[in-house]
Order: sequence, then structure tokens, then C-alpha cells
Amino acid sequence: MDKIKACIIGSGFIAEHHALAYSQLQNVELIGISSLIEEQANILMKKYKIPGKPYKEYKELLKLKPDVVSVCLPNFLHKDVTTDVLNVGAHALVEKPLARTVAEGRAMLDAEKKSGKKIFYCENNMYAPTFSKVKQIIDEGALGKIYMGRGKEQHSGPHSSWFYNKDQAGGGALADLGIHDIACLVWYLGCDVKKVFCQTTITIPDRGTFGKCDVEDNAVGILYFDNGAQVVIEESWCAPGGYDMRFELFGTDGQLKVAPTFSNLVSVYSEKGYGYAVEKASSTKGWTFPVPSEAWNFGYPQEVAHFIDCIVANKKPLTDGTYGLKILNIVEAMYKSAQSGKIEPVPRL
Ligand SMILES: NC(=O)c1ccc[n+]([C@@H]2O[C@H](COP(=O)([O-])OP(=O)(O)OC[C@H]3O[C@@H](n4cnc5c(N)ncnc54)[C@H](O)[C@@H]3O)[C@@H](O)[C@H]2O)c1
Repeated sequence: MDKIKACIIGSGFIAEHHALAYSQLQNVELIGISSLIEEQANILMKKYKIPGKPYKEYKELLKLKPDVVSVCLPNFLHKDVTTDVLNVGAHALVEKPLARTVAEGRAMLDAEKKSGKKIFYCENNMYAPTFSKVKQIIDEGALGKIYMGRGKEQHSGPHSSWFYNKDQAGGGALADLGIHDIACLVWYLGCDVKKVFCQTTITIPDRGTFGKCDVEDNAVGILYFDNGAQVVIEESWCAPGGYDMRFELFGTDGQLKVAPTFSNLVSVYSEKGYGYAVEKASSTKGWTFPVPSEAWNFGYPQEVAHFIDCIVANKKPLTDGTYGLKILNIVEAMYKSAQSGKIEPVPRL
């Protein structure tokens, strides 16, 4: 059987994870990359032995007739680029958040329907081994009825200026980090969120070389689930020390805590420091908690492997475009709550 031809649009942080994931699959051939940053793309192409030269214009890349394209671009480009990908007859792997707004997300699902191709929604946390184990334990009934919980993601802030710009990103820490928590929590609880409360702040408005931050860099919210559960989420771009992600879930028959980073699987104290500990940790001096096989622990290669498997076997993925839109709809209701200062209903889609 011919190999599946894959392309990547973008060559930044997440594009590298897609390149690594594709390169590990025997039935996939990476045939090209498009990026505005030629030097960055060249490094990726050399590392993963991708033929040719990077394309500045992604529409030229699409002329290679790929079967699948990873959309690893700033959020404001997701809608138009995904639509173009689908319209040339390729499947699209779209990074979180699906888009900046529900309206954009709807347009993407319309394009998906018309094209006959699929949107695969990249929510890596739902493919991460620790978080998948949590789902299994919940489904085996260990916790009974979950009535309360807490989800949290924090680090010191993203690595590119567009994240801090409302027009380009759509939102800040909530849309960037909270979206991971919400996706997992909806999956864990297995029911819809009916209303939400949220408060946001901008704590560090000047992000130095990244410019002005005009989106929230802190968000605290409450998700009110259909089954009566109340779950708090806390998201921050203001926390130095590396990527911290955790859940605490409380049920009538048990409780569970999970933290794939900042856990004590490996604890290191070093006066001099060493190579690398975890994403967004600025130092390896003092006490650090390195994450072994980070990409694997964060679920990136498993996610792409699952999508390719779904394409080959024509199966429904765990996270499709509809799931991406469902989560974005909750995020949008939370922004509405942050503005109104009130609990807001999550509109039915
Ligand atoms: N799943 C995760 O944990 C995770 C982590 C990081 C980022 N993301 C998501 O991935 C997406 C990309 O984020 P990132 O961190 O890789 O950003 P980045 O800033 O590191 O990279 C952006 C890339 O987009 C390219 N680009 C911009 N406009 C382009 C255009 N018109 N044509 C071709 N290339 C273009 C740039 O050249 C650059 O290579 C975002 O939606 C983000 O939310 C997901």
C-alpha cells in the first residue's frame, strides 16, 4: 500500500511535535513544509529528512497533493487554512484551539462536511498516558459520582508574540491552556457543561520582546456540569518554573490527583544545572522535576498515530472537529461570563 503523504504548515513549537510523530510512523511519508520562517523550517526539514525546500506560500505546498496536512499555525489562520486544506482533498490535523471563535469553528465544520474529508482536532492531553489512565480509572467506577474537581495548567507564558495579541490568538491563558483542561474534564465526566463562571486578569501587560499582552494571562473559572458537578479551573501564563498541569477529582466513592509534570518521579537538586527539565522551565538549577520522554508523556506522537490509524481504517477519532467546537463553545461562554461578571449558560450547538 502507498504511504500516506503528509505536509505540515508552520515550523514552530508544535510543528516539530507533528514532524517527530509522523517520522515515527512507517506508513507515513512527510513530503513538505510551509513556513514564513525559512531558517526555522530548514532546521526541521534537515532533522526529519523532509525533501525539497520550505514553501513560503502554503497554497503552493498544497499543490503536492498531500493526503493529510497538519495546521500548526497561529489561531487566526486556522479557519482559512483548514478550509483550503479540505478543499484540495486532504484531511486536516488542526491544533487547539479549533479557531478563535465558535463562528469560525462552525465555518470549518461546514467546509469539512462539503469536502468529504475530516478535521482531526489536536488535543494532545487526551492521548497522554497519565490522563488516559485517569479516564480508564474513572470509567471503571473507582470514584463513583464525580461531584467536584479542579483542573490547572500554568507556565510563564508562550514563546511567540502572536499568542499575546487578541486579534491573532482570540484569547489568552483560558483559550490556550484552559482549553486543555476543559477538553479532558468533559471527557472525564462524560456529560455536558450547562453553565460557567469566569474571571480574567492581565497581570503582566508588557511582555518585553513579545510586546504588549492584550489578552488575559490569568483565568479562574467554574464549570457547572449537567450531572451537578462543580469543577474549578485555574489557568496562568505568569508562573515561572516550568509547565505545571494537574487535576484533582472528587467522587462519592473516591478521589484522584494527577500531575504528569511537577511530580516527584524524578527529583533533581543541582547547583550547576543540566540540559533540560520540562517545557518552559527557564533553569535547571536548584530543585527540578524533569519529565522523562516529554513528547510521549504529553501524548503528541500517540495523538498523530491515532489520527493516521483513523484515516487508514476510516474510524471516528477520539477528538474530531465537532469535539473541538464543543470545547470552544464552553470557552466562549466563559469569556462572556468574564465580561458580564455573571454565571452564563453554555449555548446548545
Ligand atoms: N497541543 C499543544 O500543547 C500545543 C502547544 C503549542 C501550540 N499549540 C497550538 O499550535 C498552533 C501553533 O502554535 P506554535 O506554538 O507552534 O506557534 P509558533 O509561533 O511556535 O509557530 C508558528 C508558525 O507558523 C508559521 N506561520 C505563520 N503564518 C504562516 C503562513 N501564512 N504560512 C505558513 N506558515 C506560517 C510561522 O512561520 C511559524 O513557524 C497554535 O494554534 C497553538 O495554540 C498547541
